[in-house]
Amino acid sequence: MSSNQLDKKSEAWSALFSEPMSELVQRYTASVFFDQRLWRADIAGSLAHAEMLAAQGLISADDHAAIRRGMAQITEDIEAGRFDWKLALEDVHLNIEARLTQLVGDAGKRLHTGRSRNDQVATDVRLWLRDEIDAIGTLLAALQTALVDLAEQQAETILPGFTHLQVAQPVSFGHHLLAYVEMFSRDAERFADARKRVNRLPLGAAALAGTSYPLDRERVAKTLGMDGVCQNSLDAVSDRDFAIEFTSAATLTMVHISRFSEELILWMSQNFGFIDIADRFCTGSSIMPQKKNPDVPELARGKTGRVVGHLMGLVTLMKGQPLAYNKDNQEDKEPLFDTVDTLKDTLRIFAEMVGGITVKPEAMERAALKGYATATDLADYLVKKGLPFRDAHEVVAHAVKQAIADGRDLAELPLATLQGFHPSIGEDVFEVLSLRGSLNARALTGGTAPAQVRAQVARHRARLAG
Ligand code: ARG
Repeated sequence: MSSNQLDKKSEAWSALFSEPMSELVQRYTASVFFDQRLWRADIAGSLAHAEMLAAQGLISADDHAAIRRGMAQITEDIEAGRFDWKLALEDVHLNIEARLTQLVGDAGKRLHTGRSRNDQVATDVRLWLRDEIDAIGTLLAALQTALVDLAEQQAETILPGFTHLQVAQPVSFGHHLLAYVEMFSRDAERFADARKRVNRLPLGAAALAGTSYPLDRERVAKTLGMDGVCQNSLDAVSDRDFAIEFTSAATLTMVHISRFSEELILWMSQNFGFIDIADRFCTGSSIMPQKKNPDVPELARGKTGRVVGHLMGLVTLMKGQPLAYNKDNQEDKEPLFDTVDTLKDTLRIFAEMVGGITVKPEAMERAALKGYATATDLADYLVKKGLPFRDAHEVVAHAVKQAIADGRDLAELPLATLQGFHPSIGEDVFEVLSLRGSLNARALTGGTAPAQVRAQVARHRARLAG
């Protein structure tokens, strides 16, 4: 260990401490091995703070130049993997500051003027998270584009729509895919909205009460591209609601991914046989040579659980804390980091996987023909002939009962048989009873008609381009 006076944490504090920390306590309280990923944000925050200190005449131009020089060196060293992270220096902030002082002397010691690690760490996490939100926005757009592409190709493909996992009504497979585009577009809105509250500056709050130095907080916010400054120092250093809000948006995104995964897994099973997923997203079995398992969607469904867990962890972390900063907050990082990693990897892999889906339209259509999926269309047909809907519903129930007894589809019953259920039924009923007729009839906004699917595809494309 070098002779630098900040190399040991007990010496980093003050003369007040009369004994060194035990190894165990050092390890227990340290965060450097996970929070070092904040280094870029930490340096950006420090440089913005130093620039403002110089502009306010609180440090000299020479000190400011020395700090910039030192930080440039540190940036180079970290990027090259040469930086010597020290557990004894607890966290990313003290590691960088100690190294800066080692490199540039007293100027490094002046950097912390009017600042505390409490407002520093809150700033770093916000800066880091803001950039991750932007990256997630890009990934969500790519996934939506992949789904829109597939939806456009599959606008005419007929899929049995389910309720209660029982065949309900035929839908366009493209329409089904666009349901997920709606979900992911709302997720993107939620992230964009959370970003507004993430992107505010805590610096200037210092430890908890603000500081007596004449800092220009707005200037720092502007340098860092933030939308404003936190207006209450106690709140600025202590609340992690922005992290919870982000994780809650991530949880909803993962829940949407998980529902989609469940469908992909079902559709790929032999019993459905609706799709195939490209081999590169699947694995085999070590014992059953015939197996090809949809590992990626299964894992995504599983990983949803850990993100839900992180949300619970963060909420619970916050709930008992008195104002202002407490060390509990150091525990915000691992759940947040893992949420970001899990979500980004999942979005990336799903965008690729959607491009590798093979659709089996005949299997889908065969399944749609099985469950009397056009029974509602027959009821609607009778309503258009003048029957009250409830009566029409009853008439169709009898017709379906007959069809089940005969082992046939409604469309396969002879006209005479159908007319036995109601005399207003005519030859034109067969168009209504066809799957395609059922689809085409639902051409209102939000409906499953292929024309409507294409209109929605165009709307999504314009939105995603804009
Ligand atoms: N590593 C700490 C964290 O992540 C930095 C802030 C520590 N502040 C303090 N007063 N101990 O929260």
